[in-house]
Amino acid sequence: MKVGVLTSGGDSPGMNACIRAIVRVGIFHELEIVGIKGGLQGILDKKFQPFEARSVGNIIHRGGTILTTGRSKEYRTEAGQKKAARILKEEGFDALIAIGGNGTMRALEILGDLWDGQIIGLPGTIDNDVYGTDFSIGFDTAVNNAIEAVDKIRDTAQSFDRFFLIETMGRDRGEIALHVGICCGAEAIVIPETPTDLDAIADHIIAGRERGKTFAFIIVAEGDEEGDAMEISKKLSGRVRENCRVSVLGYIQRGGSPSRQDRILASKLGSYAIECLTAGKSGILVGEIDGEVAETEFADTYSKQKPLNETLLKLVDPLSI
Ligand code: F6P
Repeated sequence: MKVGVLTSGGDSPGMNACIRAIVRVGIFHELEIVGIKGGLQGILDKKFQPFEARSVGNIIHRGGTILTTGRSKEYRTEAGQKKAARILKEEGFDALIAIGGNGTMRALEILGDLWDGQIIGLPGTIDNDVYGTDFSIGFDTAVNNAIEAVDKIRDTAQSFDRFFLIETMGRDRGEIALHVGICCGAEAIVIPETPTDLDAIADHIIAGRERGKTFAFIIVAEGDEEGDAMEISKKLSGRVRENCRVSVLGYIQRGGSPSRQDRILASKLGSYAIECLTAGKSGILVGEIDGEVAETEFADTYSKQKPLNETLLKLVDPLSI
């Protein structure tokens, strides 16, 4: 069986550990594993790289993706999708494993209608927004990166008695913001999944000051309906009657060596993906729910909303009194 492997969309820490698991477990099962560089565009450009067990040595600890990634404009067109299916057939591929987020799963679903090879998706994105897995590969490391940064910013907040708005990534999901908010003791978190009441946040900050809090910070998810951290700071500054400092964490969240959790998850899911192929499965995302492997049809991975952790959400207010 000839299996193509690619990474697509935003890179996430642990993608390399996952590629390594796919290659090693695949070769263990006597499959031929071929890397495809540059995401889905790599199929269209025929950027193929045959893998051996040794090709993936010394990458388990590295962030980013050795296969490089991308968001292909050509693949979004019908002509591009048909071309990809034709190339995979002509090049003799029997299966494809793609590591990526929602957009990647949607692309795989389309490919499944045009090509008769087996297709398995694995959740690799810091956003943790893929339905069908408790955690996506890279999320844990991104949260840890953000925690480290926020802990540094709070030194200045504390030293200057300041109020900070700290922006985390996550496109249209507040998963990173929620976890970072709990782990760092934010006064509030501002996320797209819940309605944002700026008056209530301002009252909470003022009340905290009156109770003797000398500094404060809130975590803002980049995709909130009230805007990004800069826009929200403008809206809040009149209401809290003090200057709001803004810090956008940006791409530092997405880089660096994967955490223990991401390395384990990546190794397990990469291995599961090969098991699914040898069992003849196709058209599914392989994730992990409650510690068990979980299979989800591609359509559900992007159309269903992953539930927010309500227990964590409810903790924000009582923990910040
Ligand atoms: O999907 C991962 C992510 O890092 C989002 O959190 C962010 O909104 C987006 O990618 C940024 O995309 P780009 O790398 O194209 O700037």
